[in-house]
Amino acid sequence: MLLEVRGAKVAYRRGRKVFEAVRGVSFSLDKGQTLGIVGESGSGKSTLSKALALLLPFSGGSALYEGRDISAFTRAERARYRRSVQMVFQDATGSMNPRMKVRAALEEVLSVHRPELGRKERASRIAELLDSTGLASSVLEQYPRELSGGQCQRASFARALAAEPSVLIADEPVSALDVSVQARILNLVRDLRERLGISVILVSHDLAVVRNVCDNVCVMHAGLFEESGPAEEVFAHPRTEYTRSLLAAVPDVARALRARREEAAAREARP
Ligand SMILES: Nc1ncnc2c1ncn2[C@@H]1O[C@H](COP(=O)(O)OP(=O)(O)OP(=O)(O)O)[C@@H](O)[C@H]1O
Ligand SMILES: [Mg+2]
Repeated sequence: MLLEVRGAKVAYRRGRKVFEAVRGVSFSLDKGQTLGIVGESGSGKSTLSKALALLLPFSGGSALYEGRDISAFTRAERARYRRSVQMVFQDATGSMNPRMKVRAALEEVLSVHRPELGRKERASRIAELLDSTGLASSVLEQYPRELSGGQCQRASFARALAAEPSVLIADEPVSALDVSVQARILNLVRDLRERLGISVILVSHDLAVVRNVCDNVCVMHAGLFEESGPAEEVFAHPRTEYTRSLLAAVPDVARALRARREEAAAREARP
């Protein structure tokens, strides 16, 4: 087992109060497996992802990576884990260094993870990364703010892949993108698993998005997993009303996106 999470909790401090956003979740992830974590907004998906990426501490339970508790990692183990477990964030624009062109961002990662590569090899590795994320080489000379949302998301994938991770955690990698770009990114995720044997944790509030990509799925609600199991099963026979409502809400990605835009517009219009 690559990753084994048992009763994991993550809490935020809000002034004097402590708010537990993840209240005890368990799952395991094998090499080459894709796990979908779905659930409504605010259910704790990003919080869990961030804790797995060591950006937030677990406040309870345990997470074992290759049998070692990640909270008990030595400094060297933490560094190795940070290389092996890469994260693509919900907001790709915010996660790319704004002062670095795409080329520099990729070179930086390669110089850390593949210091043995010469200039030529590095260039061909960068070409490969662009190819597998479907980016044109022209983006290399662009800054993140000069990229479209889809390009930026792909660049962020390319940077994560440059580190040759064992696990890729992708937090809502497609929700802000239009449907055709979503499909390409999801194909990319599938391809990564098949070609490179990478394990993927795909976070989304949209069950339709993970339907074709994930082996297993966990349905998150208010900091807990309401149900989990093989994706086929959960989708075919949802056991809870909550999962059924998620399923019913998103057969049509475009409609969901439209609804979100309308909601945002309505919020703006409110005095
Ligand atoms: N920095 C923070 N401090 C305090 N509370 C937070 C913080 N970040 C998130 N929360 C709270 O934790 C809960 C879970 O948030 P989280 O971002 O993990 O949800 P999510 O499932 O990723 O939602 P979305 O689908 O909207 O991205 C929410 O109630 C949120 O308000
Ligand atoms: Mg989130």
